[in-house]
This record gives sequence, C-alpha cells and structure tokens, in this order.
Amino acid sequence: MRFDSEARDEATPNGGGARALVIGPYPAQSGAAHQGGAAHARDPSARLAEAVGLAQAIDLDVVEQLALSLNDIRPATFLGKGKVEEIAEIVKAKDVALVSMDCQLSPVQQRNLEKAWDAKVIDRTGLILEIFGERARTKEGALQVELAHLAYQKSRLVRSWTHLERQRGGFGFLGGPGETQIETDRRLIEERMRRIEHDLDKVKRTRALHRKTRRDVPYPVVALVGYTNAGKSTLFNRLTRAEVLAQDMLFATLDPTLRQIKLPHGARVLLSDTVGFISDLPTMLVSAFRATLEEVTLADVVLHIRDVSHEDWEAQAKDVESILDELGLKGDAEGRILEVWNKIDALDPERLSALQAAANGIASPRRPMLVSALTGQGLDELLARIEATLAAGRICFALDLDVADGEGLAWLHAHTEVLEREALPQGGVHLVVRIDPERSDGFARRFPQAEMIRDADASRRRAS
Ligand code: GTP
Repeated sequence: MRFDSEARDEATPNGGGARALVIGPYPAQSGAAHQGGAAHARDPSARLAEAVGLAQAIDLDVVEQLALSLNDIRPATFLGKGKVEEIAEIVKAKDVALVSMDCQLSPVQQRNLEKAWDAKVIDRTGLILEIFGERARTKEGALQVELAHLAYQKSRLVRSWTHLERQRGGFGFLGGPGETQIETDRRLIEERMRRIEHDLDKVKRTRALHRKTRRDVPYPVVALVGYTNAGKSTLFNRLTRAEVLAQDMLFATLDPTLRQIKLPHGARVLLSDTVGFISDLPTMLVSAFRATLEEVTLADVVLHIRDVSHEDWEAQAKDVESILDELGLKGDAEGRILEVWNKIDALDPERLSALQAAANGIASPRRPMLVSALTGQGLDELLARIEATLAAGRICFALDLDVADGEGLAWLHAHTEVLEREALPQGGVHLVVRIDPERSDGFARRFPQAEMIRDADASRRRAS
C-alpha cells in the first residue's frame, strides 16, 4: 500500500492543469502573527508571484491570484468570515477546483475552507511537498520527500482518518472510527516512516561509498547554489552542454547532478547542480531539502548564483546565505563561495552600470562576477575565477620520476593534477603536479623526492 501518494491525492489533485486560485494571506504589519523568517522583508506582490510560480510548477492552471492583508488569524478558517465568503464567490465564478493558500493551515482550517469553498485547499507545505515529490530524481531525494510527506500526514491525522478508513474498505467501527482508528493510522504511518529511514540509511551508505570513489578522483568539485529560478540549471547546461531540465519553473532541479568540465588551463572539475532555495521552507521539509545539498558541503568552490533582474534579489540572497551558514559554510572563512550575478542581459543599461560599479567596489577575492547564463556573457571570466580560486587552495610539487616507475606515473595521473610533464635528457620525466592539501601527506610518503613549490611558480613555469 502506498500510503503517501494515496493521501496526497486527497490533498491535491496532482496538478494536471486543474483551475487554481492562489491566495497570499500576508500579515498587514510585520508584527502580526504569521510565519516567521526573512520573508517578512519581502514585498507581498513578490511573495504572491513566487506562490503562483510554485503552483505552476505542478501544472496548476492559475486563473486568479489574490494578495490579502491580514490583521489577525481566525482559528477556524484562518481568514475572516467576510473574506471567506468573498472568495467563495470567486471560486464559483471562475470554476476553481483548487485553492492554494500561501501560508501554513491547520488541518481544521483546511477542512473548513474546503467546505466553505467546495474546492480542494492546499497550503504552502503541501504544495512544496508536491513539487519535491515530482522533482526528486535520486532514490534518496524520493525517500526524503516521502518521509516528509508522512510526517506531514501524521501531523494532520485528525483530518485524514476518514479518508484512510474509506480506503481500507470501511472496516471501521460502527459510528465511525474513534481514537483507536487514529492510533492505527498513526502506527501504520510510523511503521512506514521507520522503513523509509532504514532505506535511507542504506542509500546514504551507498552514496558515501560513491562519494569516496569520487573523492579518489583528484578533480575538485564546484557546486552551484542559489534561490529557485536564479538560473543554476541554465548555467550548468551552458557550461557542460548537458541536458538538465531547465525551464521557467521553480524547483526544476531537486537532486544534485554532476558533470565534468574543463577549465581554461585544462584542469578538470566536477560541476554540481543543486536544488533551488526558497524562503519560509516549512520545518518538516528542511531535512529533505538538506539531503539534496550534501554536495555543497563537500565542494571546493561554491558558486552562489543570483538573479539580479529579480526585484527581491537582496532578500533571496539572505535566505541562501543563512542556509549556507547552517550547512557549515559560515562566513565563508575559507573563501570558497563566489557570487555570480546572473541575468545581466535582462537589465537596462543604467541598472547594469550601477551593478557593475557596486561589484567593483567589493575587494577582489569576493568581487561578484556579472554573467548571463543565457547569452554566455562573462562565462570565460567566471571559469578563470574558478580556476584561480581552486589553485589558491592547492599545493604544487615538482619531482623527477624514473622511466621505469610506470606505476608511480599512473598514480600521479590518477590522484593529482599533472600541470607539466617533460622528458629528461638523462631519461625519466620531470613533473609538476597540483594536489589537494588533504592528499599531500600520502603523496609525500610515496614520493619523498618531491619538492613543494608555490602555485605561482608553477604557473610561471607553465607560461615560460
Ligand atoms: P530551480 O531549479 O528552480 O532552482 O531553478 P534554476 O536556478 O536552476 O533556474 P533555471 O536555470 O531553470 O532558470 C530559470 C529561468 O530563468 C529560465 O526561464 C531561464 O531561461 C531563465 N534564465 C536563466 N539564466 C538567465 C539569464 O542569464 N538571462 C535571462 N534573461 N534569463 C535567464
């Protein structure tokens, strides 16, 4: 029995072009009781536009959108009586099948609104879960989403028991199921959650193995992060010419995708595309989301892609930065994060020059790169910056190898980046290699004759 998807059917009609009304019930002043977090800094119209984008991401046909200014929240219906009636009229007139409320609803509020409007009602968590569910591409992503979905269902058992009971063919008790039935449902959900946790453990272990194999490749990892719709997949495709789902939809990427690319001087890196960030992520979704971001903590360079054409780009960056902080990239002490200001093609000339000036005002290691993933503008400079950032964190060695040491040579090619290779007149070969500091101990043990040199020396040698 697939508990999750069955109950999901009740919460949403799986997109499929259903006529939808999106409502943004936002607090009138920042002091009003509502969702916490940085979203308060946002303009209601931008929040509503994002909510519409989210609804469209699961193929809902948004026929009407409405931002409401709330003074207080009603326990029974979230909105005041007048508003509920007003919306009932719209639902009827526009033949709306689903109302998406950009807020957290209690199960009771959801049920009452469904009754009042005679339409399905879905809240922000439910909607994001749908999107995560559709977009999860790896096994781990899918399991994390299912787990989050079950936790969501468990928290709303008050509401779903009738539904679950109906699905089991009504073998409930006369007069309807009571506490015991809810307890049974809870137990079934918990069992399923335990099984998923067990599966997740297995998947994680396998992934750790894969990652270990990957870490044995000397290529550094460059991760793309950014707010949803910032242009990560477009940039990823442009740089790798790969086919990753890039569309004008939020959350086009849920699970990290890895591809190898070559930097200007021939060094190879693995580029990793990650899921888009979003403000106000419901707490129960945080670990599902984090699971998709593991790659970021392992990355040698993190590119923070920002959509400079978006009016809320400052608030979006704050959300992204706070999650990066939580992931342990606090304050970017190691200088691993590069800001990439994307979509410069969409700016008018004045705004572009103002941004250029702002970027130039930031000292060089942290100076943002201005690019357009769409036109390719600024991408060569971006690649050069990635190369320079990586080089700064790696150590170079010069060494001579005997011709007979084929095994040593193979090891170097497999585990280091060979920058130079020159045949020696007396036989043998002279090499300059660059290596991750983490590996330098093993390297030094194996090649005691190697001499450490600064990267600048290596570049100079290469240039001459
Ligand atoms: P998520 O998967 O939701 O996190 O999105 P993403 O950051 O991967 O964004 P994606 O690459 O899917 O791009 C979102 C939209 O922005 C698409 O319509 C792109 O065509 C558009 N876009 C991306 N880069 C640029 C750019 O440089 N200029 C312009 N004008 N549009 C861009």
